[in-house]
Amino acid sequence: MLNEKQIETMIKAGRDFMKMPHEDPDYKSDQDLKKQQPPLVKEAMGGQLIDLPTDFSDLNLENDFMKIINTRQSHRVFTSQNMTLLELSFLLWSTQGVKSIRGKSYATIRTVPCGGARHEFETYFVVQYVEGLEKGLYHYLPMTHQIEFLSPVEDCREFIDKSTAGQTWCTKASIVLYYSSVFYRAEWRYGVYSHRVQLMDIGHVMQNVYMACTAAHLGTTAIGYIDGDYLNAVFTLDGEEECMICCCPVGTVDAKNQQAEIDFYAFVKEQGL
Ligand SMILES: Cc1cc2nc3c(=O)[nH]c(=O)nc-3n(C[C@H](O)[C@H](O)[C@H](O)COP(=O)(O)O)c2cc1C
Repeated sequence: MLNEKQIETMIKAGRDFMKMPHEDPDYKSDQDLKKQQPPLVKEAMGGQLIDLPTDFSDLNLENDFMKIINTRQSHRVFTSQNMTLLELSFLLWSTQGVKSIRGKSYATIRTVPCGGARHEFETYFVVQYVEGLEKGLYHYLPMTHQIEFLSPVEDCREFIDKSTAGQTWCTKASIVLYYSSVFYRAEWRYGVYSHRVQLMDIGHVMQNVYMACTAAHLGTTAIGYIDGDYLNAVFTLDGEEECMICCCPVGTVDAKNQQAEIDFYAFVKEQGL
């Protein structure tokens, strides 16, 4: 249990972290020091490779931008239907897809913006209900727009529940996207100033999850509260150089459940907030 002094210290550290620091004009990042740039993406981890379809014209997408903006919401009531491989492909493309390379191999240009185009994130996911895919753990390979199958998961609901630190509503999702940061990709360029930017970067990724889901008539919620240690262990991340930071469950939804969505916030009315 944190004592008052510890709480005060942590609040101050958190506020200082969020503030734009006074930059030291003499500070040099590893890029300034001409140290070797880290790889733009993580290599495949040895799993079976699966090509993803890319003809998104076959999807019944909402194209009215204002409608997407105005109907975006967090969904926590999923109907546990199969998603298609094309829908999965669309989500991965919309959130981390590589459109081009800047220079010979200086940076990837993707469907989301990112400070210095460092694109420090890796996408992992668990498949529970996707047509034609085995239930299990996967890793997205953005350079080739493929996925790799890492390992089967017997009880996806138990896995998702643990990974989201007991947010049991997530267990009906068709997939859960898990995002890690490979810290040095951003640190190489921005050094001690990179971490604040990384958190801004991931917000853009998660917003694109919302946008893509809304367009594809799927539901999602950004999740900051995860069991990071559990996820690092399961996806074999060392937790130091690469660490899980957040996730987004994605599922099929039905307008009939809108009242159940509202009921998640019943406490607001009950407590007269
Ligand atoms: C960074 C971030 C972290 C979040 N973490 C959680 C979470 O752990 N659990 C949850 O139920 N909702 C989480 N949410 C969803 C918010 O509760 C939700 O966006 C907010 O209540 C507003 O509702 P709306 O998205 O429907 O507009 C998170 C949202 C963001 C942007």
